[in-house]
Amino acid sequence: MRGNAAGWTDMITATDTPGARPSPPLWLLAELTYRCPLHCAFCYNPVDFAKHGTELDTGTWCDVITQARRMGAAQIGFSGGEPLVRDDLETLVAHARGLGFYTNLITSGVGLNETRISGLKDAGLDHIQLSFQDSTREVNDFVSSTKTFELKQRVARLIKAHGYPMVLNCVLHRYNLPHVGQIIEMALDMGADYLELANTQYYGWAMLNREQLMPTSEQLQEAEATVNRYRERLGDRCRILFVVPDYFETRPKACMNGWGSVFLGIAPDGTALPCHAARSLPGLELPNVHDASLRDIWYDSHAFNAFRGDGWMREPCRSCDERDTDHGGCRCQAYLLTGDAAAADPVCAKSEHHGQIGQVVTLARRPVRESEAKPLIFRSRDNSLLLG
Ligand code: FES
Repeated sequence: MRGNAAGWTDMITATDTPGARPSPPLWLLAELTYRCPLHCAFCYNPVDFAKHGTELDTGTWCDVITQARRMGAAQIGFSGGEPLVRDDLETLVAHARGLGFYTNLITSGVGLNETRISGLKDAGLDHIQLSFQDSTREVNDFVSSTKTFELKQRVARLIKAHGYPMVLNCVLHRYNLPHVGQIIEMALDMGADYLELANTQYYGWAMLNREQLMPTSEQLQEAEATVNRYRERLGDRCRILFVVPDYFETRPKACMNGWGSVFLGIAPDGTALPCHAARSLPGLELPNVHDASLRDIWYDSHAFNAFRGDGWMREPCRSCDERDTDHGGCRCQAYLLTGDAAAADPVCAKSEHHGQIGQVVTLARRPVRESEAKPLIFRSRDNSLLLG
């Protein structure tokens, strides 16, 4: 699966309608750091994260946030890694809130204590999304390679006590899909107002561990049926979102709502990202906030124009009547599975590579004998330096 850097980067066009000005970004994701106390085997951070440069300092982040707001961005997510390892998080939240951003913290909860949450509340933080891994200590601690099970319960109580809506996220895979009912019960005990059950998508560390994490279609069907029973029972008391893994679909997702359309990510070292996994695409000259303004990056950079609109599409996407809905699917998935970032996303049944998806899914059905089981590769600095 090698890239064809000589191919698609030369033929890309800025937009499908020459002269049309793209809309400004709406959603700024500030990946403050790649440092994280957890070691999740499904982490979407780049496998080579340990090789990337120094984190932006407070002043530079404030400048980036100001620029994004001036361009029209309305929501900001503070993410990572674990954003709480940055002791200037409160300063950055206050800065963003002062500019009128709706502010979200996306956290594992590690590091969130009474002092930090009071500081964040004073800074004007609007929303916290807390992740947890499972309803059992065994799987929670196994897939994150940490002992954080009780901590999540404590942090959930803290979040609730400070008047925030309880927004929980749990990434699903073959280890915890059979526990979906208990996961929902646990979320309800934690006071969940909103629960996102997001099946693993295969990028970054999850791609490395795909064989071990991929569920069977039976697991998925049972989990979805359980979710639907709870939805009926709970009504508006708790909203449950169940995100099916791409590999079990026949049409691709509208990744990022279209490339360079609403999403602008900034990596810890200031690299600007049109999507979470853009670093995986060879030949994409990713700009950095140290070298260019956000305005130039968004409107004029090669990277943000590479797959904007539909000018880059080939068949079967080019003539597909769903191209305005799915925007050709996910470029990173197309590259990871075909070696060609401009190919149709193989999730699509119209793709000539769709059979590959079927093979991966079929592989998940094989009973895994202990002796054949591959160990999970956990996200860690050492593994990153080794594998990146
Ligand atoms: Fe990069 Fe989907 S994650 S386009």
